[in-house]
Amino acid sequence: MEVIVKKDYTEISKLAAKKIADVIKSKSKPVIGLATGSTPLGTYKELVNLHKDEGLDWSKVITFNLDEYVGIDPSHDQSYYYFMRENLFKSVNIKKENIHVPNGIAKDISAFCKWYEDEIIKNGGIDVQLLGIGGNGHIAFNEPGSSLGSRTRVKTLDEQTRKDNARFFKSMDEVPKYAVTMGIGTIMDARELILLANKETKADAIAKTVEGPVTAMVPATIVQMHPKATIIIDKPAAGKLSREYPEEPRIFNIK
Ligand code: F6R
Repeated sequence: MEVIVKKDYTEISKLAAKKIADVIKSKSKPVIGLATGSTPLGTYKELVNLHKDEGLDWSKVITFNLDEYVGIDPSHDQSYYYFMRENLFKSVNIKKENIHVPNGIAKDISAFCKWYEDEIIKNGGIDVQLLGIGGNGHIAFNEPGSSLGSRTRVKTLDEQTRKDNARFFKSMDEVPKYAVTMGIGTIMDARELILLANKETKADAIAKTVEGPVTAMVPATIVQMHPKATIIIDKPAAGKLSREYPEEPRIFNIK
């Protein structure tokens, strides 16, 4: 696991976008795992810029989003489908049929979850998965206590997560109680992970994730077991780490 501490949010976003763009350029059929929330917004802005300014081609890109609220229609302005369309998809040349966001209104959600897992496999697996982190250490909506081997399924949201997300809804009552989420096992199957965090509100969760023991009570700690994971954070999010971490990725020029 590589930890990179950047000076600010713009720098985090630029590095994450560059890493994703490198995967898109190097594969004939790139499969990219995406996250929602405030953290990846800057990364999506950079990716849109790379498309507009440098012609980053999304025509062959296949995407799988981590999660979606149960009971929220894709056209709802708080659905994660809507978020992705507004912040990325509508501004790049991705094909609609290549976009996968969990369906929170599926009649048979268990059957949908199985289909989603099968669809990831059918497309060759995820090349790189982008992750944010909850203040309680969740990744996707795998809340503390989630099985470290879990697959795509419905999870009950923690009260803290509902409170954190209440700012986007008119009242607390409107905040969904459940989400369809990729499991921790699903995330760990991605060939590469990029976990982003900014602001000091994430400092506790980051200290546990990077320097604490691996535990289901802090789901993000599982990233320590991944063969190719990069944690990219800003200085405030790194504020509770006990060791020094570099500002640049390690570069090996092995010929
Ligand atoms: C969203 C997701 C969540 C968020 C996390 C952090 O798809 O999977 O785990 O990454 O809740 O959210 P923000 O970025 O809003 O702090």
